[in-house]
Amino acid sequence: MHIFRCFTQIRRLTKMTSLESAKKTAAHTAVDLHVQNNTIVGIGSGSTVVYAVERLAERVKAEKLKVQCVPTSFQARQLIVQHKLTLTDLEINPRLDVCIDGADEVDNNLTLIKGGGGCLLQEKIVASCARELIIIADYTKNSQKLGDQYKKGIPIEVVPMAYAPIKTQIENLFGGAVELRMAKAKAGPVVTDNGNFILDWKNFQQDYNWENVNTKLNLIPGVVETGLFVKMAKKAYFGLADGSIKEQV
Ligand code: A5P
Repeated sequence: MHIFRCFTQIRRLTKMTSLESAKKTAAHTAVDLHVQNNTIVGIGSGSTVVYAVERLAERVKAEKLKVQCVPTSFQARQLIVQHKLTLTDLEINPRLDVCIDGADEVDNNLTLIKGGGGCLLQEKIVASCARELIIIADYTKNSQKLGDQYKKGIPIEVVPMAYAPIKTQIENLFGGAVELRMAKAKAGPVVTDNGNFILDWKNFQQDYNWENVNTKLNLIPGVVETGLFVKMAKKAYFGLADGSIKEQV
């Protein structure tokens, strides 16, 4: 029994290590191939982006690059500041060369689910200002259809007072189940960087035209933005378990 528990623990740790190194490989590849001197770069949010910022800081120092960074969240802003990179914003730089960001799931059309970490609104704004949105992810994010791998639902940022009617409207329009995302270390719901709530739409059908769904969701009063990124990403780099990289365009 004890040996079995040790074996399970080792397997879990090995999987964690291979996931982390897959994230790192994807992040390093994107930074190496898409950032040059004078690049204005959008910094996404989440755990994979941490490796991208580390790599960016390394290259800026070693190659004396002039790079300006636009954050997509409070977390991204902190990463930029902590790594002593140059912080800028959309007021000063409304056009970016590239935005490098993670995703919760990527389907075979490069449609994304984002917002698992609650940062979808600023991520979508910054990505929409970039010439190219480059996605970095480990192999578990690579799906045929949305919902194949990611079971936590499609995040939708909403104005707090409207969360209950929006939940009902989405369930009536599209089926599935919509849940208000609750905080883990605080009583009550998750509050986003923009002071809004997040609804997670679960058990949705997988054969939707996601562009239409995204448009319809955005038309519901009180919906601020959805975590569906349709026709936005130019390329995704997936770090694989064997240490190699898979590119999807
Ligand atoms: C943040 O809210 C998300 O959109 C992230 O981009 C996404 O969840 C990817 O995060 P990880 O890199 O942690 O998987």
